Amino acid sequence: MATTWRVGIIGCGAISRNHIEAFNTIEGAEVTIVCDVDADRAAHTADTYGIPAHTTSVEELLAHGVDIVSVCTPHPTHEEVVLAAAAAGVHVVCEKPIAIQLSSAERMVAACREAGVKLGVLFQRRFWSAAQEMKNSFIEGRLGTPVLGQCNVILHRDTSYYSATPWRGTWDSDGGGVLMTQAIHYIDLLQWVLGEPEEVFGHIATFKHGEHIEVEDSAVATVRFASGALATIQASTAVNPSLGAQVQVTGSSGATMTLLEFPEGTEGRLTVRAAEGHIDATQSYPAGVDPNVDLGSINGALIPYHVAQIADFIDALHEDREPAVNGEDATRALRVLLGIYESASSGVPVRLGNSVSTA
Ligand SMILES: NC(=O)c1ccc[n+]([C@@H]2O[C@H](COP(=O)([O-])OP(=O)(O)OC[C@H]3O[C@@H](n4cnc5c(N)ncnc54)[C@H](O)[C@@H]3O)[C@@H](O)[C@H]2O)c1
Repeated sequence: MATTWRVGIIGCGAISRNHIEAFNTIEGAEVTIVCDVDADRAAHTADTYGIPAHTTSVEELLAHGVDIVSVCTPHPTHEEVVLAAAAAGVHVVCEKPIAIQLSSAERMVAACREAGVKLGVLFQRRFWSAAQEMKNSFIEGRLGTPVLGQCNVILHRDTSYYSATPWRGTWDSDGGGVLMTQAIHYIDLLQWVLGEPEEVFGHIATFKHGEHIEVEDSAVATVRFASGALATIQASTAVNPSLGAQVQVTGSSGATMTLLEFPEGTEGRLTVRAAEGHIDATQSYPAGVDPNVDLGSINGALIPYHVAQIADFIDALHEDREPAVNGEDATRALRVLLGIYESASSGVPVRLGNSVSTA
């Protein structure tokens, strides 16, 4: 077993900073090489963080000798990078969404299993203590069994968000809009807490950003879970000012918990704990806060949770167990939003089938 895990970062764009800082924070891990198809970006990132090597080729990075790669590239490229890492016997931390198609996610999960390497996918919001309290409240039976949920992702993006990054906003290069890129985090929380999603019915629309993108900037959906629980999803990047994101769950005891991330990127906190005869509520929207936070600040505020999830991944390697969020978990969230796209296109509810095999 490696004493120091040698890490390669693939994709040196906006989110790579979170991965580099996370691995460099964790004792026993060290980023030894970075890769970007853009040579200047790779060199600049290596220079900024004092990383000894950089390359434009994934093959060269893998040949350099690494134990783990972080995949921080655009959505449709995740599969080829993960398959190459698995073939080289290298463990993988992959950014969300795992992929933009279910078949692709399934190939990634299968390749990592067959190669005996671990696959973790970033859903760092699961590491908020409020999210864990929500989850544990059901595990420990304090809310009873899940009955109702909602997830409201009410965000602001300006035009430059889409124009500054060429791969954003098309079905081929991004795979979707607000559902694929932003709401997926909260859809993941919803299904993590409420259980296996079974059927979805949804609509999508492009209200604000239609001149720049072909994907949706807004969506609504209902979800029915295998347990019988019901939930709604509302998501948009056409809002100004942003109201952040909220996930609310109700149990069969009648008790409700509401988690709010506001402004975007700030650690989610429980704003409501309501049980029979008792409501413990804190002020939802603090005054004097800039609601439209820039992307760098959002990503920066999330670094501690990248650290927490990547630390769990390293522990999973040491303990030879599954990471807290593995490929199957990430595929479940993807299945929900792809079901919403299918339903929006067909006009009928979509049954989601089973998640990928964990065998
Ligand atoms: N977990 C989060 O909160 C969070 C936040 C932001 C982005 N993300 C995810 O991170 C991923 C990257 O997003 P970003 O905002 O950093 O994008 P970005 O466009 O800023 O960076 C992507 C980088 O990958 C490089 N690249 C493209 N194809 C490559 C390849 N085949 N090999 C090597 N490099 C390649 C590009 O040149 C670019 O520098 C996406 O999956 C995105 O959804 C997650």
